[in-house]
Amino acid sequence: MPDKEKNNLKTNWSRNAVVYQIYPLSFKDSNHDGSGDLNGIISSLHYLNDGTPNSLGIGAIWISPIYKSPMKDCGYDISDYYDINPLFGSLADFDRLIKEAHKREIKVIMDFVINHTSSEHPWFLESKSSLNNPRRNWYIWRDPKEDGSPPNNWLSIFGGSAWTFDETTRQYYFHSFLPEQPDLNWRNEAVRNEMMGVVRFWLKRGVDGFRVDALDTLMEDGYLRDDPANPKYDVKIDEEYKSLEHSFSRVPSETKYCTNILCNTVSEFENKFVISEADAKIPMMAEMFRSCDKTIHSPFNFNLMRLPWKAEEFKKFVDEYEKSLRPEDWPNYVFGNHDRPRLRDRTGESKLKVAAMLLLTLRGMPFIYYGEELGMKNAKVSTEEIKDMFALRVNNPKSSRDPERSPMQWNADANAGFSEVKPWLPLADDYKQKNVETESQDPNSLLNLYKSLINSRNNSDVLKFGSYKSLDTKSPDVFAYIREYEDKKILIMLNFSDKQIEEPLPFPKVTALISGNQEYPAGEVISADSIIIKPNSGYVFDVHDTNYE
Ligand code: NOJ
Repeated sequence: MPDKEKNNLKTNWSRNAVVYQIYPLSFKDSNHDGSGDLNGIISSLHYLNDGTPNSLGIGAIWISPIYKSPMKDCGYDISDYYDINPLFGSLADFDRLIKEAHKREIKVIMDFVINHTSSEHPWFLESKSSLNNPRRNWYIWRDPKEDGSPPNNWLSIFGGSAWTFDETTRQYYFHSFLPEQPDLNWRNEAVRNEMMGVVRFWLKRGVDGFRVDALDTLMEDGYLRDDPANPKYDVKIDEEYKSLEHSFSRVPSETKYCTNILCNTVSEFENKFVISEADAKIPMMAEMFRSCDKTIHSPFNFNLMRLPWKAEEFKKFVDEYEKSLRPEDWPNYVFGNHDRPRLRDRTGESKLKVAAMLLLTLRGMPFIYYGEELGMKNAKVSTEEIKDMFALRVNNPKSSRDPERSPMQWNADANAGFSEVKPWLPLADDYKQKNVETESQDPNSLLNLYKSLINSRNNSDVLKFGSYKSLDTKSPDVFAYIREYEDKKILIMLNFSDKQIEEPLPFPKVTALISGNQEYPAGEVISADSIIIKPNSGYVFDVHDTNYE
């Protein structure tokens, strides 16, 4: 490995950190209003990292939006980029959060919503006030067609037409999401400059990076051509948005220019990181890595969330992903976020330990959605309780993202220790069993597995920086790979199936570092031709003879 690259690995925090996503509304309520807030996060930082293996050992938090907002999309509708929503606290609270997090060596990633603002943002209010307002061109306005209908057939990701008519100026404005989230016009230099001002504002306040929201919807076709019909659309099962291929309403190739501007601005500050939201397959992710001159940017890799739970599928994906990366690109993996049903609801509880072992031993940046370490499941939210405006707009309770946003489960007390009053969303009904306090006391809990995996990773250059190479296994249900750094190797063997498997051991002597409930406990030296791997479990082994191929 060239020295330059090694330095990058050791000095850039993003190469070291395990990241934890905090959904601020649901993490910890300090002021008894039923919603989480910044002081609640500050009071919980010791759980994330207290400098000892008793805590999770988290290296960075990504906080979903906390800016001023009318909360039509839970904060993804910003009405002031330079201030904190009073629901969450104040700028002074935010400064304290940065200080307290940094004291515990936790970096802070800010969510940055760049595609759209709130319709209540003063920029939009000015823009819609008249056809010749100086901010008119900050958003995307067009005349109706002759018959009064929208300028083209583009659809909103959140249902219905992507165009809303404004009575005052008799034009339509474009919105990729809710009508309350008008798209900014990134072709306008003044918009780009203002948004770079926002970036500098938060970096100067001490944030360590950004998670860029909805980067893949940033640019639209300049000629506003109609999107073509999707031949695979099935009206009986698919939502309306799938009836079109979005080749003109979303033009990622045109986004590169803006991504690069963003990366260059962030690079004015040292040791920062940008991760952008893009629901992309490998070729598109490879392109997105290449859209920045600076090596501080990664596209989010959502692919593990849609793979079938099969060792072979995971091996195939990780091999291909790794192959697509340049040496300077830094991969990332994630199993859950605030827009997807919880991992447990997708795979079943039995798979959660293998998922944790995989996430935390692959090469690259692992992202943990709050509560995944407890095995939290989707909460039951009745139709009357739905808060998600997307589900309300498409009039489909099944589209609601509320179930995966339920309050963090701290203990078995009333409201799971999240709040002293009724929380803004209902709790998952098994919070009395699945919570921080209860699981901390059980040596075999998922939480304790997360703690030992993250802490082992934090103390291992091999797991943090080592190369990745998959192995061919006898059983198709085992995913095995080697991480290697300098003269050390770690072998990971994961059984994805519900059966016990006997698998040849590819090295003559190994020590079990982490053993998910196995025959060989952690610390045991093993010299055997083959090993037994229990169902839905796995090993992380330290390899003794590293010359052995
Ligand atoms: C992606 C965010 O993750 C989601 O929660 C939000 O609704 C949309 N972008 C719009 O900002």
